[in-house]
Amino acid sequence: MTADEQAAARAGVEEDAGDARERMRQEVAEGLSRPQKEIAPKHFYDTRGSELFEEITRLDEYYPTRTERALLETWSGPWVEGLRPAALVELGAGSARKSRIILEAMRRHGSGRLYVPVDVAEAFLEDTAVQLRGEYPGFAIVPAATDFTASLALPLTPPEPTWYALLGSTVGNLDTGSAVGLLTRVARRLRPTDRFLLGADLRPGPNKSVARLEAAYNDARGVTAAFNLNVLRVLNRELGSDFDLDSFRHHAFYDASRGRIEMHLVSQRPQLVRIPGERAIAFREGETVRTEISCKYDQATLESILSAAGLATTRWKEDPEGLFALVMTRRHP
Ligand code: TRP
Repeated sequence: MTADEQAAARAGVEEDAGDARERMRQEVAEGLSRPQKEIAPKHFYDTRGSELFEEITRLDEYYPTRTERALLETWSGPWVEGLRPAALVELGAGSARKSRIILEAMRRHGSGRLYVPVDVAEAFLEDTAVQLRGEYPGFAIVPAATDFTASLALPLTPPEPTWYALLGSTVGNLDTGSAVGLLTRVARRLRPTDRFLLGADLRPGPNKSVARLEAAYNDARGVTAAFNLNVLRVLNRELGSDFDLDSFRHHAFYDASRGRIEMHLVSQRPQLVRIPGERAIAFREGETVRTEISCKYDQATLESILSAAGLATTRWKEDPEGLFALVMTRRHP
């Protein structure tokens, strides 16, 4: 490349970054102008946000991670042995702590050695990939930094059979329409022997109280609160906005009529927030911005969503308390 070409390429990259920021500013401003103000959850996951989220997954109150892990410990072996996946593509991989259980089973049974972690948190994803390469020298680790809710473009076509996985009840962070949309796009990729593995958090039941569910999003140490508030820090840094973190409070509750946890930030006083290039945003005292939903399922509800997306359940496994489910699916035959 000539010096001019290099300069042009650099300018192109900077322009892309500028375009991305511009898009983010518009999206955020649009979300904050709705009657129920909203911020998209993907903005949680800068490095600090990803770390706080890891901390959430280790909290006593946060039962989903360890319950799902126990289900994976039980079922990965037999399922890998029976279906012999050649590759694992994990959407929303994060630190890949749970995928290691599946990778371990793939190694043990010699079924395959390709892992494609997909995540929006690019720097975090790269660290994860480097670590995994050390731990699984026989595996090709091919990370894809993508917002999988927008695009499922992968850097390669994985071999058949591939398992796609969406763990941690991440599906619940989408409303039903978006969940069907994402699952439909996953379903369209599935060849006959491919499988899609889903982790889903369950609704309150005989052995799962609403209090237990709500405590998972209101931990005593305030880690979830710090995680929630961190999104404002991300916006301040990325957009130059002036959210005052001390004048918002974390609030999470279960809405039984919709079967979902909602997470909000509550304005503690009337205030104006400025985002450079946008009109100032007014908050009343007690007005909230919704930052996350976490839908909870029963088998019938989830299977109707799966079926609308063209997926059929082949295995459904719950823990003994009925807290969480691990669901294996395939494309509708
Ligand atoms: N999908 C998980 C859940 O809904 C993890 C998660 C996403 C989460 N965003 C969160 C947990 C915010 C706590 C707070 O539980």
